[in-house]
Amino acid sequence: MSYTPELKELIKVVEQTRSERVALKKRGGEFPMMSLQERERMLTYHPDYKEEGRRALKVGSSKGYRVAHEFADILEAWSRVKPEQVDLSSVAMETDVLIIGGGGAGTSAALLAAQNGAKVIIATKLRHGDANTMMAEGGIQAATKIEKDSPYYHYLDAMGGGHFKGDPDLVYTMATQAPSVIKWLEELGMMFDKFPDGRMKSIHGGGTSRKRMLSAGDITGAEIMRTIRDEARNHQDINVVEFSPVVELILNEHGQCAGALLYNLETEEYFIIKSKATILATGGCGRLHVQGFMTTNHYGATADGLVLGYRAGVEVTLLHTVQYHPTGAVFPEQAEGLLITEKFRGAGANLVNIKGLQFVNEREPRDIESSCCIRECLERGLGVTTPTGRVGVWLDSPMIDMLSGEGTVQHEFPGKYILFKRYGIDIAKEPMLIYPTLHYQNGGLKITADCRTSVPGLFGAGEVTGGVHGENRLMGNSLLDVLVFGRIAGENAAVYIRETAKDGRLTLEHVTAFHKQLEAAGVPKDRVSPMLLPDYTDPEVRKRQLTSHYIGTLR
Ligand code: FUM
Repeated sequence: MSYTPELKELIKVVEQTRSERVALKKRGGEFPMMSLQERERMLTYHPDYKEEGRRALKVGSSKGYRVAHEFADILEAWSRVKPEQVDLSSVAMETDVLIIGGGGAGTSAALLAAQNGAKVIIATKLRHGDANTMMAEGGIQAATKIEKDSPYYHYLDAMGGGHFKGDPDLVYTMATQAPSVIKWLEELGMMFDKFPDGRMKSIHGGGTSRKRMLSAGDITGAEIMRTIRDEARNHQDINVVEFSPVVELILNEHGQCAGALLYNLETEEYFIIKSKATILATGGCGRLHVQGFMTTNHYGATADGLVLGYRAGVEVTLLHTVQYHPTGAVFPEQAEGLLITEKFRGAGANLVNIKGLQFVNEREPRDIESSCCIRECLERGLGVTTPTGRVGVWLDSPMIDMLSGEGTVQHEFPGKYILFKRYGIDIAKEPMLIYPTLHYQNGGLKITADCRTSVPGLFGAGEVTGGVHGENRLMGNSLLDVLVFGRIAGENAAVYIRETAKDGRLTLEHVTAFHKQLEAAGVPKDRVSPMLLPDYTDPEVRKRQLTSHYIGTLR
């Protein structure tokens, strides 16, 4: 649906201030960045800072820790199975390394585990590649331009962006391994954006002090996934089991992780995969719609790995924060929640209110940008209301062609350009209406820099883990995180099975013990997890997001 006549009238207001804003940029000027004190004040508008949105966990290894109700609801929940009724002697498949999740972290883990001599099974809830990695748009950070940048600055940016709450070992590992990950992707055939002379193009992201965002148009995640998925599918030691979410981890009598209980979505049967090491790479939580927000995430992003790891005894860390991407589409209705990449702002597009006025520098960190959008709409009343009653502000994409030449939007943002064209909107000429959208799980299961959890034989990588991004991730560090830590997890799992793994009787006693805690805490028996898929037949859930999961699937 193209813009209504009322919205077209409001676009004229944005057009009236555009030339002046472009001229300012061309002169090298910009809207002032905030001081640290101003940022702190602004964050009071951020949903993470609403205490009523959280509660203390009543059970498990992080008992007492306050997390969003939506996380507490799935962490304090009963298993989908009665552990004593599961026949643990009936093993359907056996492998060296079982990887749970087929996105960027899982697939790169598989490649490195296989390269180190392990036989691998990737088990995925939906199809191999149905993951947030596939949907990531704007870029991947890496300090490859050593004349102006280095992992040192990358480390400082990531620590600062995360409010200095990131785990220094994890952040150091991510920043220092970034250049070698880019080399690896190039060797596997990834097509990065380049100048005619072969140098990589790079731009700023919010909160970065150097231009180190490398990209493949506005479909960087899809290009990464294409590259590594092809590689995995052609490897004889990597098998993929699709449409089979894991419902419990299985331990052995030595307390080591020894596989998982899975559920076949087609036959509706449970089955067991036994393994010597297991890697959790299940991704994030967008489909929990934390605090009622719409989401950019793929249909299966229901934080299952968090539940599995927590029940097995792994602590959660930094889970009191989630990321709301500042620019999720609110118009047209069928695109609600959809990610509008930060690369638009990196390329110069301003955020402006109903009066056509810019209200934030476009390169502030994400939590600040989101807070500013929320304040503009909810407190200052300067948002634009859509025909379905959503409210948003303008992302002035036509500025990009004025700054960098006609055709830039079409060339640099082909994914969004084509999609909006289908709705009758030319984003090179008309701005987009946006509002913050639930995008990323900043916290998660606690891991070490070699991707070990506190459960022997259980590794974690990517969005299911916490600590890499502190309380706020910077753009481009998630695609990097999944690859850096996916590779480390795969390599270390292969070492673990040679040196440490022992065979032994399989058990679900940890689930029985967890159930006892739930019983004692009075948790209602009808609350079960992992969620596996969101239930949009429930009118309450449906209200939060009507349609963008269809777009996610189509892409
Ligand atoms: O805005 C974006 O393109 C998102 C990237 C990210 O979350 O890293």
